[in-house]
Amino acid sequence: MSIKRGNPWGQFGERPLIAPSLLACDFVRVGEQIAAAADADLFHVDIMDGHFVPNLSMGPGFVKSVRAFTNRPLDVHIMVTDPAYFADRFAQAGADSITFHIEATDKPEEIIDFLHDKGLGAGISIKPATPAEAIEGIIDKVDVVLVMTVEPGYGGQTFMKDQLSKISQVRSMLPDGVRLEVDGGINPATAALAAQAGADVFVAGVNVFGSNDIDGAIKALRSAVTEARKKRSG
Ligand code: DX5
Ligand code: ZN
Repeated sequence: MSIKRGNPWGQFGERPLIAPSLLACDFVRVGEQIAAAADADLFHVDIMDGHFVPNLSMGPGFVKSVRAFTNRPLDVHIMVTDPAYFADRFAQAGADSITFHIEATDKPEEIIDFLHDKGLGAGISIKPATPAEAIEGIIDKVDVVLVMTVEPGYGGQTFMKDQLSKISQVRSMLPDGVRLEVDGGINPATAALAAQAGADVFVAGVNVFGSNDIDGAIKALRSAVTEARKKRSG
């Protein structure tokens, strides 16, 4: 199987994207569950360092193994205190796009340039308490803005509806072509709300991998989002 590498965001046109989060996989059946998620556009990989967030998850070895197993792009979300160091580590491990947190660095441009120089996608994320204005100066440099709809650190939390106004605000700030991703508590109902507010990339962990019909769960998200976007444009 040929493995496509590099900045994935340009290959999808404008359609909404579903990115199942591998954090919610059963880790003894990861390959089987990735194979079942045949309709996924990308796989979202949550990296936690036990410091920026109060939890630990996977490391570069996990990304390397997944990279060799699937040709879907890997959207790696690093919730870490040292994003410059880990951007390099996860780039080497096979990430196609890396999203880091504005709260973790005062030199976001350097990390974005590093990723783009390597031919990878670059994303910036904001936690629920961080205002949209925090990323104002760099939104024209990234490929994707990730608005957290839960406090980062754990899967399976409840979608924070108070983030919807921030999603609308970020959408109104974004140049054409920059993706707006939502992450945390996404299911068909909350994905529809986020889509109406302007999101176009939907991360879902428990809703997809906690289902006994993984492919059906992805398709249900896709149809909820497609319907909601029709309402937004109509
Ligand atoms: C939370 C992670 C999320 C998480 C989402 O810190 O960034 O990507 O996996 O999980 P669900 O969809 O279960 O809320
Ligand atoms: Zn995430």
